[in-house]
Amino acid sequence: MNQKFLLKIAEKLGTPLYVYSEEQIRKNYREFLSAFKSRYRNTKIFYALKANSSLAICHILRQEGSCADVVSIGELKVAQRIGIKPKDIIFTNNSKTDQDLDDAIEAGIIVNIDSIDELHRLHKIAKNKRKAVNVSFRVNPAIDPKTHPKISTGLKESKFGIHLENNIALDAYITAQTLDWIEIKGIHTHIGSQITDMNAFKDMTEKIMQFTLELKEKIGLELKFIDLGGGLGIQYTDDATPTPDDYAGTIIPVVNEYNKKLNYEPELWFEPGRYILGNVGVLLCKVTGVKETPYKKFVNVDAGFNVLMRPSMYDSYHRIQVLNRIDENATETYDIVGNICESGDILARERKLPRVKGGDIIAVYDTGAYGFSMSSQYNQRPRPAEILTWGGTVEVIREKETFDDLLRNQKAPNDLID
Ligand code: LLP
Repeated sequence: MNQKFLLKIAEKLGTPLYVYSEEQIRKNYREFLSAFKSRYRNTKIFYALKANSSLAICHILRQEGSCADVVSIGELKVAQRIGIKPKDIIFTNNSKTDQDLDDAIEAGIIVNIDSIDELHRLHKIAKNKRKAVNVSFRVNPAIDPKTHPKISTGLKESKFGIHLENNIALDAYITAQTLDWIEIKGIHTHIGSQITDMNAFKDMTEKIMQFTLELKEKIGLELKFIDLGGGLGIQYTDDATPTPDDYAGTIIPVVNEYNKKLNYEPELWFEPGRYILGNVGVLLCKVTGVKETPYKKFVNVDAGFNVLMRPSMYDSYHRIQVLNRIDENATETYDIVGNICESGDILARERKLPRVKGGDIIAVYDTGAYGFSMSSQYNQRPRPAEILTWGGTVEVIREKETFDDLLRNQKAPNDLID
């Protein structure tokens, strides 16, 4: 999406605004799929809806043939709404309620079990409903993915998964084999997000394949699928990052090696979110004014961490451009700050930009994943609109919320309203 086009969209539709490129979504999906499929025929992609669960986005991925990784019944509703078949939906979460489990059984999707306690609760509900449920276990391989601590999920101390050590995961499979209403279909792991260290993925694959072999040798269990989760990083800065081709080139030889010993070929599943959506989206915001203190220069914009949480939550870096000044020299150093009443509401620190003025339009790049989906109404602010572009066309796929939306579902005594 070129800068002039983005500027025009901002002028026409207002800010803040998320803009996505449909071409880029399809391109990323195809790149990811073909990197694996060209090396391993039995590959399936389960797009991680948490990256962006807007209907139009998910629908595009459905058209591309994607299955769905959901983490809540809300995300399940999205997957159902766009017509993804139950057998193509996997439900992962470490803290499912009995109602969640009941809904999942009813929907006929795969439940990815996170604890022994959950296995027993799930079985009890399935037995009561007299409806068998397909399951996998999320295992914790105790691997440091060398990414931000808040998005590392397979460490020994993490809250996720069933540990491989001391036969804990093996015992879970053995127990599951004795339960009439549980159908074991696979194994799952997800060690973190924004991973750029291919060795972490290699170690993860070795541990999962070794355990899959153990399941076959010790309890005669063959799995339909091995789900290695998501996690591949994208390039936010000037430093190049590994591609799906690098990732597939690293792990598929490991899988093939183990398959010889397994004597069968399980399906390989992946759950990319960030790689498919990250570089697809741009957040457009407007400069409300510039402030110079004796210590710093601030650019105030009309979007805060209620719109884009990542910089405040993970100190993440996003490229920034002043769209109406791309030909001007970067002579100033600014902090670009949001409109939320908290000091941590900083979108970008110490950026060299041309001299900025009120009314300028700023683009915050690579915000398609975990941008809108993590937005909130904090400070009683409506969430922004989302726009999809295709060639030169522009479509609103989610309207901006209104002030009425903010008050909807609330109650106050009439005398307080008056
Ligand atoms: N599968 C599972 C079970 C997950 O928990 C996640 C992400 C994914 C797949 C997709 O991972 P990806 O390919 O997108 O890395 N809000 C954070 C990222 C949190 C990721 C949570 N789980 C951020 O903005 O960086």
